[in-house]
Amino acid sequence: MSTVRPADPDRLWSTLQTMAALSEPGPGVTRLAYTPLEREAHARFAEWMAAAGCEIAVDPAGNTIATRPGRAAGPATGTGSHLDSVYNGGRFDGIAGTMAAVEVARLLHEAGVETALPLRFVAFAGEEGARFGQACCGSKLAAGLSSRDELDARRDRDGVSLAEAMAGVGLDPDAAARTAWAAAEWSAFVELHVEQGSVLERAKLDVGVVDLISGSTRIELTVTGQASHTGGTPMPGRSDALAAAAEAVLLAEQVALDPRHRGTRATVGRLSVLPGSITTIPGQATFSLDVRDVDADRQRHSAAEIVTRMRAACLRRGTRLDARLLADTSAVVLPDWVRAEVTAAATDRGLRYRVLTSGASHDAQMVNRLVPTAMIFVPSRHGLSHVPEEWTEPAQLAAGADLLLAALLRLDARAAAAVLEPTGGAS
Ligand code: GLV
Ligand code: MN
Ligand code: MN
Repeated sequence: MSTVRPADPDRLWSTLQTMAALSEPGPGVTRLAYTPLEREAHARFAEWMAAAGCEIAVDPAGNTIATRPGRAAGPATGTGSHLDSVYNGGRFDGIAGTMAAVEVARLLHEAGVETALPLRFVAFAGEEGARFGQACCGSKLAAGLSSRDELDARRDRDGVSLAEAMAGVGLDPDAAARTAWAAAEWSAFVELHVEQGSVLERAKLDVGVVDLISGSTRIELTVTGQASHTGGTPMPGRSDALAAAAEAVLLAEQVALDPRHRGTRATVGRLSVLPGSITTIPGQATFSLDVRDVDADRQRHSAAEIVTRMRAACLRRGTRLDARLLADTSAVVLPDWVRAEVTAAATDRGLRYRVLTSGASHDAQMVNRLVPTAMIFVPSRHGLSHVPEEWTEPAQLAAGADLLLAALLRLDARAAAAVLEPTGGAS
């Protein structure tokens, strides 16, 4: 076995760009959850991993799992992230972690390294909540946290259910809801991801190591008023659904800015109006609310307060507000012992790091329910994410991949010491 060489920034970059080219037309990258394009990305990932000596499997949820055998069978150390994107997103969210996994597999393969126990590289399906409201669909199924009913209930903006979308790309939603990964087959997991914030950039750090991942409460709100003629209807006494929704949007911002809710982020990211005519007062406005927090109680209290105040405002305007819960996930504390292995690896490699929280959702938060998990963040330029301008420098990605590899090797050695019989020595 020769020594593993450092990650190749050019190769990693060009692999990432190849993935970015798999997109719907339009600005940035659009490769939505459970679409043929997402499956094509998984097929590409599988091809690259097979060429790097891995055995490929796709689980019932559509997660692609590439296994690199170890000297012994036993619980694997894993890494991975997702391959889907939001509408008009960037090239790095999810992709940075899966392409870093590809680079790690290639480096180990080239050096002929045999780990003590297997390594597994995972591309999760359907992480983004952009299409179905629910984030981390594939990893949630892998962790045994989704029911078949949930797969029917989550629908995209065209009314297609998650179950229908899964079936549409050749997956069996019944099997997906029945089968979870076996916790005993895993020892630890590390997800590398772009930060999607600007802490690392501002502090001029190489990497971040995550201690806490925010939860989110997502609600669909519908304001019902009375559509009527814009010229014939006097201003007093109107039931304008959009005017009421506008006040509601500002209330969400106001509640989240209130010091009592410090740390809460509340966003209305989607709004549609009916009948959508220049000459008709809006009769209905439907919009989304996404409330995120690292404190699960505060997250839910904030969401409840926002909806209560929105409802009162809508009533005052002669309209009605109906609320439907789309998804609700609590914040997750990641275990300190896996994080300690990652920070020790960062110190070994001379990388400047800090421990920080994640405002975004990640597959790591679902996987952690099954396997002790850590997260590595690489910097995001200007903190931008979910937009075409998303950017991380090739050298920053390569430094993250090097840290990922070092952390996986440390975790493999630790797992081996815990589960394998010592060889040699006194009998
Ligand atoms: C995933 O990117 C999220 O929306 O947090
Ligand atoms: Mn992501
Ligand atoms: Mn995302």
